[in-house]
Amino acid sequence: MKFFIDTAIVDAIRAAHRLGVVAGVTTNPSLMAKAGQDPKKVIQEIASFVDGPISAEVLAEDADGMVREGREWAKVAPQVTVKVPLTAEGLAATRVLADEGIKVNVTLIFNASQALLAARAGAAFVSPFIGRLDDIGANGSELVRTIATIFKEHHIATEIIAASIRRPLDITEAALAGAHIATVPYKVLLAALEHPLTKAGIERFAEDWRQVTQKTK
Ligand code: G3P
Repeated sequence: MKFFIDTAIVDAIRAAHRLGVVAGVTTNPSLMAKAGQDPKKVIQEIASFVDGPISAEVLAEDADGMVREGREWAKVAPQVTVKVPLTAEGLAATRVLADEGIKVNVTLIFNASQALLAARAGAAFVSPFIGRLDDIGANGSELVRTIATIFKEHHIATEIIAASIRRPLDITEAALAGAHIATVPYKVLLAALEHPLTKAGIERFAEDWRQVTQKTK
């Protein structure tokens, strides 16, 4: 499973990218609103240092409008992936964009049939929302597992992005469930790499080293 970073805050993407683990970026209109910058400029700036797929979402509700916006996004940088919501219009737009060679990430997936439909419409990625399912008492990682099983059984190359990740355990569960990618907010990425025993271990090594080097000076 690879890591994408789920934010439109360029400084956070730069910091995560520095860690050497970021294979791509996902944004959405809410994340763009949080960043408070011109969305096109944000995507351009991200594309200046991230080589992997960068998702930028369309806002139109009809397929023609989505296709128009998707084509515009695709012009911003070659690594842009157009994010389209899973609706009937979204599926139709996905087919048109995919046939033009534009990669599509179908988002707001909450059941397995939605994921299968998106894949058959030509989506390069599907994004099931783990946290929002858990919020309503459903099981987000179970959905990822079901989609992964179906895609494997039917030799579907569409990649599963586990989205709406809220805590480090979601990352582990997404990996176990067969997600190809987890898209993770920066603060969850930091929480996932921290452990009190790692910190305590470093402190003890430093102290033991200090003692032995003082004794043998
Ligand atoms: O990738 C989708 C994600 O940004 C949604 O997360 O926490 O708003 O459900 P959340």
